[in-house]
Amino acid sequence: MCGIVGYIGCEQAGPFLLDGLERLEYRGYDSAGVCLNTGSELVVKKAKGELKVLKELTKNGKDLHGTVGIGHTRWATHGEPSDVNAHPHLSESGRFAVVHNGIIENYQQLKDYLTSKGIVFRSMTDTEVIAQLLEYYYQGDLIDTVIKVLGKLDGSYALGVISKDNPDEIIAVRKESPLIIGLGENENYLASDVTAILSKTRTIIRLENNELAILTREGVNIISTEKDEIKKNTETIEWDVSAAEKGGYEHFMFKEIMEQPAAISETISPRIKNGRVILDEIKLSDEELRSFTKINILACGSAYHVGVVAKYIFEKMLRIPVEADLASEFRYRDPIINDKTLTVVISQSGETADTKEAMREAQRRGSHVISIVNVVGSAIASESDDVIYTWAGPEIAVATTKAYSTQLAVVYLMALYMGEKLGTIVPEEYDALVNELEHLPEKIEKVLENKAKIQYLASKYFNTRDIFFIGRNIDYALSLEGSLKLKEISYIHSEAYAAGELKHGTISLIEKGTPVIALVTHEELIGKMVSNIEEVKTRGAQVMCIACDDHPEMETVGQTVFIPKVCDMLLPSLAVIPLQLFAYYVASLKGCDIDKPRNLAKSVTVE
Ligand code: G6P
Repeated sequence: MCGIVGYIGCEQAGPFLLDGLERLEYRGYDSAGVCLNTGSELVVKKAKGELKVLKELTKNGKDLHGTVGIGHTRWATHGEPSDVNAHPHLSESGRFAVVHNGIIENYQQLKDYLTSKGIVFRSMTDTEVIAQLLEYYYQGDLIDTVIKVLGKLDGSYALGVISKDNPDEIIAVRKESPLIIGLGENENYLASDVTAILSKTRTIIRLENNELAILTREGVNIISTEKDEIKKNTETIEWDVSAAEKGGYEHFMFKEIMEQPAAISETISPRIKNGRVILDEIKLSDEELRSFTKINILACGSAYHVGVVAKYIFEKMLRIPVEADLASEFRYRDPIINDKTLTVVISQSGETADTKEAMREAQRRGSHVISIVNVVGSAIASESDDVIYTWAGPEIAVATTKAYSTQLAVVYLMALYMGEKLGTIVPEEYDALVNELEHLPEKIEKVLENKAKIQYLASKYFNTRDIFFIGRNIDYALSLEGSLKLKEISYIHSEAYAAGELKHGTISLIEKGTPVIALVTHEELIGKMVSNIEEVKTRGAQVMCIACDDHPEMETVGQTVFIPKVCDMLLPSLAVIPLQLFAYYVASLKGCDIDKPRNLAKSVTVE
């Protein structure tokens, strides 16, 4: 969602601000803007639409003057995407400029109050109240004013503030929305995530809730809202810059699809030693593990789809009842969980607002939380009881691929680790599964090599209006992800159905030529799936199948993409690859903005 950058140094700020915003584009946005402190005034340039509009407006930054500035990419919440609603927002006299991520929940009351005092608002945003409050309460001290204004705000925020009267400072503060400080030589940076500043520095400080940072050229001071000084540790980011760049690929999504074997290797290799899964991250004793009577999985979007796969795997291998819940629904249904429930939270960003709040609700009810997270130091990683990182590296395309796959890999590791402890997996099966897991990356390479066939199928169907995905058991869980991938980047209407449910409604939607993608990877369900496929074919559907290569007869059932045969548990990791590639090629043929689909955001930090 929205992205923040800031620069204070000896160089012109414009080029860094534009470059940083470009690197944050992947988060999803619909307008962008910058504000520079020239020393005598604050100059704002902002524009609806892609960053290139802002670049043209500022002659690629050449028209931006000043060595101190803040910038923002906005994903609209309050007020439509427009020039005027774009950030930064100025106070009435132009003394303060503010960029903001998050939502000010009491903005309407604050706006009404300020309006009654004669202040005229220019935009429809919640953010503008912050700029106007700063001016309203200003008595000459910037820090005191910021602290006073924070006391008036309900909701979540990451803020960058500059003032005409303090030309050598940027103030940054956060509550619930991430914000980091980058440290350089006689220059310092502000950003909502590390990708924006990686090309400049790897040394960062993560701001915590209610910490206020004062950035100058010489250094960064961090204080509490009571003005007590806070000593913070610096952190060195291991990701290198190239990991967040396209490296010759046309789209980040394709690069990330191709990176999956390596990302899975990175995630599993350090955790398998001498044929045994070691998860030191889980601090629970064997006795505590045995005490759980239920597993509760919380996540959103594709991470939730991993949770649905995990439900099948955990129940089968651990013999414990599992509920996979959409985090946005979980909190509002008075869930029945307690200290006998193990909660597994899955999130690439570690900042998804609904997932974070659902996790807190589970913790309040006494549940132990293990999180599966990609972004080191993110809120969910920090607040969960144990965290197992996916080592996928930075994922830039909005539509997740390698994060999804590495999350699955962690699910397998957890199933094996816990299955061994609980004694629900016999040693021979355990050994065979670990062995297959170690060879999974090679098998994925094989599926990726077969991409020409999927490209051909995409070329046959990219003009369609609707597509249906069907499957049973884990294949059903996978069809949810295949359908989401396709609709989010190609804008083709698609739905996923449990194949057995077809007759209860969906089949009425099938007409001559409707494409149906059938996942048929599970040995014991092949017969049932073939019957369901015949039912849709009889009604005119054109069927593509994904099946294992030990069933060559599937060639005659539909247009079939084969994946190598592996044990049931690992099948989703192979079957998802053709689904990702299909979505990618269809979107590419339709000329869609693959890495930044309309209206979507990478990290959803509002509920
Ligand atoms: C957004 C992204 C999805 C992601 C979901 C959950 O909708 O576009 O790709 O699955 O958020 O995000 P998380 O960071 O919690 O995995």
